[in-house]
Amino acid sequence: MNTSPPFDIIRAADHEAMSQAAVARMVAQLQRKPDSLFILATGGTPERTYQLLAERGRAEPSLCDRLRILKLDEWGGLSMDDPATCEVALRRTLVGPLGIGPDRFAGWQSAPSDIAAECDRIRQWLAEHGPADLCVLGLGLNGHLGFNEPGDHLQPGPHRAELSSESKRHSMLHQARGQPVCGLTLGVGDILQSREILLLVSGAQKAPQLRRLLRPEISPQFPASFLWLHAAVSVCCDEAAYPAI
Ligand code: GLP
Repeated sequence: MNTSPPFDIIRAADHEAMSQAAVARMVAQLQRKPDSLFILATGGTPERTYQLLAERGRAEPSLCDRLRILKLDEWGGLSMDDPATCEVALRRTLVGPLGIGPDRFAGWQSAPSDIAAECDRIRQWLAEHGPADLCVLGLGLNGHLGFNEPGDHLQPGPHRAELSSESKRHSMLHQARGQPVCGLTLGVGDILQSREILLLVSGAQKAPQLRRLLRPEISPQFPASFLWLHAAVSVCCDEAAYPAI
């Protein structure tokens, strides 16, 4: 049995080089298909990648003028303009600088009055506009993807998630005005239906998680391990996250 990871691993020197390599993948995808749909995570890891993509897009407007974006996840209960939201992060780095309007940027309301209806709305949006051409993910300190948190089971579709203790301590929340009450996230099935997946992993604090991901074991206790079930996953990491043995 072949148990080597089915991932294309790109190991860059540091976070900046990782971001450059990641943006090269995103640009190549847009050159192949200008109206690509990207599902995008937020957090510290992809922030620089998105800034670089915005710089490329501003220098070459035709590159991103048909790009469509779906926000992967959101902190439920924060107001949309809370500085900690994924919404504000994507608007600041990519959506604002590229002037992407609501016809090409979709995603979770952060404080919906009816969460089940909001999950249905996102499910329908994805059924109509998906699957994504590229899903850009970060790796949680507990192995989560989006807010698909470790547990006895994972959910395939858009859902409300209980936040893990790791997520409640996430650095994005340091600037929060309010307290999130839950996570709102696409499910593992939605992620796996993307045509290609780009997982970004940076920093020594992620090295144990990346090492675990490379083991041929799939478990809901380590949600990122479900990426073993996808045939087109690239892992773009830096040397701190993937030290030479
Ligand atoms: C957050 C988000 C994820 C993100 C992950 C990693 O909680 N819900 O979408 O990818 O954790 O964040 P970071 O890149 O800051 O480590």
